[in-house]
Amino acid sequence: MAPHGEGSEEAMVVQDENRKPISSILIVIAMQTEAMPIVNKFQLKEDLDSVFPKGVPWVRYHGVYKDLHIDLVWPGKDSTLGVDSVGTISASLVTYAAIQALQPDLIINAGTAGSFKVKGASISDVFLASDVAFHDRRIPIPVFDLYGVGSRQSFSTPNLLKELNLKAGKLSTGDSLDMSPQEEASIVANDATVKDMEGAAVAYVADLLKVPAIFIKAVTDIVDGEKPTAEEFLQNLAAVTAALDQAVTQVVDFINGKCLSEL
Ligand code: ADE
Repeated sequence: MAPHGEGSEEAMVVQDENRKPISSILIVIAMQTEAMPIVNKFQLKEDLDSVFPKGVPWVRYHGVYKDLHIDLVWPGKDSTLGVDSVGTISASLVTYAAIQALQPDLIINAGTAGSFKVKGASISDVFLASDVAFHDRRIPIPVFDLYGVGSRQSFSTPNLLKELNLKAGKLSTGDSLDMSPQEEASIVANDATVKDMEGAAVAYVADLLKVPAIFIKAVTDIVDGEKPTAEEFLQNLAAVTAALDQAVTQVVDFINGKCLSEL
């Protein structure tokens, strides 16, 4: 039997996995304000006997909803500064630790994001990302340049996209809320409609450990609009989490009872 590709043993194992009903999902969220409405919606309970190393601020909530076991993790508050541990480093660490401990069938990275009026976006739009990439890892050496951009496709969910009222677009990730001219050029090169601070990092870890991942991003600010990004983000954060919560609920309801190949 051929070692790789269609018909290989590895491909057949993946096919079998994709035909089993999804039983456990892992929701990765960066901010407490984004996470709590979802925790409350699914009546998730905080894990008091942590699966994470002692002393880390990472938080896990878990519970059963319909036929699904749901885990939601957020990287918690920075232990020195007391603010949410946003960005790629915390997101990748907590995703890695959660996959190792929980072995989920599917990862949902949910959160808020910036978007662009040139792409037709409005505040509170919710996007399902088709592709994710980085816009702040510039390595102008052949092949390292591609490694830096780290472009990956998200797990393909054509039925979910058709059924729910979500917009589709590419997601670009960097560790800054604002955008330098160089980052803007990379975002254009990535053909991105949404800009966040975690997605591509979660995608990297999910790919590394071969767990399918999807990305749901609700728009808090229009990056090419008139208002300063930080101000617009803070102004809209609470209201937009309601749109995010609604979209995540619809996605979870759609996933319930299905296998990966039906998404
Ligand atoms: N999250 C919300 N708005 C964002 C933006 N403009 N850039 C990165 N992450 C964000």
